[in-house]
Amino acid sequence: MSVGIDEISFYTSNYYLDLRTLAEVQQIDSDKYYQGIGQEKMSMAAPDEDVVTMAANAAQPLIERVGADSISTLMFATETGVDQSKAAGVYVHRLLGLQANCRVVELKQACYSATAAIQMACALVARQPEKKVLVVASDIARYDLDTSGEATQGCGAVAMLISASPRLIEIDPEVGNYTEDVMDFWRPNYRTTALVDGKYSTKIYLKSLKKAWENFVEASSLAFNDFSHFCYHLPFSRMAEKAHKHLAKVNKVGLSLEQVEQQIEDTLHYNRIIGNSYTASMYIGLTSLLENCKQNLAGNKVGFFSYGSGCVAEFFSGTVVAGYEQCLHTLTHHKMLSERQEVSYEEYLNLYRYPDPRDGEHHDMPSATTGRFRLAAISGHKREYVIC
Ligand code: HMG
Repeated sequence: MSVGIDEISFYTSNYYLDLRTLAEVQQIDSDKYYQGIGQEKMSMAAPDEDVVTMAANAAQPLIERVGADSISTLMFATETGVDQSKAAGVYVHRLLGLQANCRVVELKQACYSATAAIQMACALVARQPEKKVLVVASDIARYDLDTSGEATQGCGAVAMLISASPRLIEIDPEVGNYTEDVMDFWRPNYRTTALVDGKYSTKIYLKSLKKAWENFVEASSLAFNDFSHFCYHLPFSRMAEKAHKHLAKVNKVGLSLEQVEQQIEDTLHYNRIIGNSYTASMYIGLTSLLENCKQNLAGNKVGFFSYGSGCVAEFFSGTVVAGYEQCLHTLTHHKMLSERQEVSYEEYLNLYRYPDPRDGEHHDMPSATTGRFRLAAISGHKREYVIC
């Protein structure tokens, strides 16, 4: 029996900052961003959206098709949690009208946890093939202003339906894992922005790729040349290029620039203009591949490298299912991205600095998101979500 991703949909905010604007303010060459890190725009969350509203917006199209009652488990992956105790998915459960017998849990390990959720969801479905698990990954990437990480912010959520006989990607059971206690990127509970040792983080990312790959080939009969495409965790799109060249070198495979581009370029279109969305990023990359690759991918093997700072990494593989192109939300995604509103540098600062009330008073949030779900108020330390 095959198990994997049956449907996938993502959401990002309706606001973005063009990195040319940031470069102009910083008086640096915008090619450092456009070429050097491969990023053009970054999504900025509206004051009335957070990981809950973004996740609900991402998942809504899937629920409309399969029906709220068919979901047996909701797994919510994030590192932008809104509560130390309550799982963000419980709010999403109500907003989507899921049935009371659906279990809900939140998972955390930096950008990696969506992959842990997918593997656990596959195991649940393998045990009870009639069940469907909804995996959502939702994050807002925030670094301090005037740091090297600032240009790699972004926000987004992805929702994936995990089922038996999936219509998009059959996920293979063999995986390669790598874990090491390192401090490359972290966010203590008392901070709203991440701390990062930027250059070190890219080194650890590449080391983890090699280690996870080596563990993968011990378990799998697949070799580098069996894959037509590779989806990497995408903190910024140039990282995928560095990673892919590194993996080719580890495998002693000589790749031309055209081959590198052919194997990863279509995974990058959306992230280039959204920015880092942490847990969601690699899966938005997968959506980009499926929705934008001109070649018919049916039957092709795709390699996935999931990385979460701190660090936990995993390499796994999947096969694209015949007929996949009929199950995508391409037009909706293209429309959402093309209708976003560009913000000026001052508007970006206002979004960045929008107050995060902590005093227990009643605070109405201004109506700013164009999404279907919004955070209407924070009152008595409780978050109040509404369906528009
Ligand atoms: P930096 O140090 O300011 O940038 O920030 P740089 O000086 O290294 O320049 C970047 C590239 O642009 C270089 O190319 C330059 O040569 C080039 P490279 O040497 O890498 O090939 N460049 C130009 N190119 C064309 N025209 C120009 C020009 N100027 C320079 N005019 C850094 C880079 C990654 C450190 C920074 O963005 C950062 O700290 N980002 C945040 C951390 C991060 O994203 N790390 C990635 C790995 S860790 C990870 O993926 C996990 C994460 O998602 C979190 C999680 O797991 O939860 C972050």
